[in-house]
Amino acid sequence: MKKPIEISVSLLSADFANLESEIKRSVAAGVDRFHIDCMDGHFVPNLTIGPVIISAIRPHTKLPLEAHLMIEHPWDYIESYAKAGADIIQLQVECYGQRRANCSEYGQWPKEIESVDVEALRRDLKKIRSLGKKAFMVINPGTALVKDVLSDCDGVLIMSVNPGFSGQKFMSAVLSKVEELKRMNFLGDIAIDGGINAQTAPEVVKAGAHVLITASYFYGTPNPAEAARFLKSLGN
Ligand code: DX5
Ligand code: ZN
Repeated sequence: MKKPIEISVSLLSADFANLESEIKRSVAAGVDRFHIDCMDGHFVPNLTIGPVIISAIRPHTKLPLEAHLMIEHPWDYIESYAKAGADIIQLQVECYGQRRANCSEYGQWPKEIESVDVEALRRDLKKIRSLGKKAFMVINPGTALVKDVLSDCDGVLIMSVNPGFSGQKFMSAVLSKVEELKRMNFLGDIAIDGGINAQTAPEVVKAGAHVLITASYFYGTPNPAEAARFLKSLGN
């Protein structure tokens, strides 16, 4: 069955001095979720926000909040993000397993792995679900799908840029992973993050993604309602 397109806007490109009004205008434009890019300066070369900001914005919207954890040792923070009010918690699989030699040191990116510790990843996905939240695995461009934990996931987030910054160029090679999920009949959310705009979204939807995450396209356009309408029309 075809799922309707859902738009998840990443607050990374919003005006951080006015988050309450940014949330209101995003809701008015017709978005479905808020995507919160949590970066620690270690897993990715950028430092952004954490649970305190999620608690602060929680009272201002009923829409789902998704916490994209681009942080080392995410297991130490799952409860804090759940308590802060995240509805969806998204774990980068590169935090679980053996790092490749070229990114095992501090300051080396993107983080990539040789092998995944499936049991540790499953443990944390289950922990998220046990807290009443939805659990997603997130896959960097250089990482393969971790098929063994698909039944523990409410969604899979395919990164179409190396995480760290908004406004980067879409990497179409990752669409093979979206197609793979579709072929496997994965019933959860198939989400994509990075470089989504009017040019790239059609091929992404055609490949099988239905949750489109956008920061710079949505917050950078003079008419975000029109952008939201366009993205949603791709599902028709
Ligand atoms: C990248 C973040 C994305 C990013 C998307 O590290 O995970 O969510 O904010 O930004 P755009 O839509 O500008 O590529
Ligand atoms: Zn993100």
